Amino acid sequence: MSIIIGIVVVSDRAAQGEYEDRGGPAVSAWLEGHVKSAFTTQTRIVPDEPDQLAAAIRALVDEAGCDLLLTTGGTGPAPRDITPEVTEQCCDRLLPGFGEAMRAASAAFVPTAMLSRQVAGHRGRCLIVNLPGKPKAVGECLDAIVQAVPWCIELLGGPVIETDPPAFRPRAASSE
Ligand code: MTE
Repeated sequence: MSIIIGIVVVSDRAAQGEYEDRGGPAVSAWLEGHVKSAFTTQTRIVPDEPDQLAAAIRALVDEAGCDLLLTTGGTGPAPRDITPEVTEQCCDRLLPGFGEAMRAASAAFVPTAMLSRQVAGHRGRCLIVNLPGKPKAVGECLDAIVQAVPWCIELLGGPVIETDPPAFRPRAASSE
């Protein structure tokens, strides 16, 4: 069965059509370049509204069956930035290491990396990861976590995903 990756763009302006979304295409382009297994994507664009974001996350995980869900935008400290809180509410458990790793890596690119409150966690077997909204930040953050994502999804009971650079799989490494 093909891997399903959900992309949720969280932006008032993109949802209202005031601005051409660039976060979603940046996520898709990164996936095309780095995910070697067959996959399909399902994209939703929602405003920074808790109910609409939660509904999109639940639908993509519970109905569409996403194995990985990436959100982009709404992670900062502005009053309408609610992506991390809603993600937490939708998750069974959080995986704080992803946010820590992305902020640490991002600090090498911008001094404002610490402003992102991005979180990650899982809902059932789906890994959910927040990314900032800027297209450049999307790739910078995904590059920082790519090698840990496949093993996480396998531990959650999801499919095997091959990536470039390749996934780190502790069991395979320890048997060498
Ligand atoms: N992380 C990376 N890698 N690159 C960036 O340019 N921008 C930062 C931060 N993280 C940035 C980054 C800034 S300026 C903000 S305000 C926060 O992400 C939140 O962005 P968001 O509200 O678009 O999610």
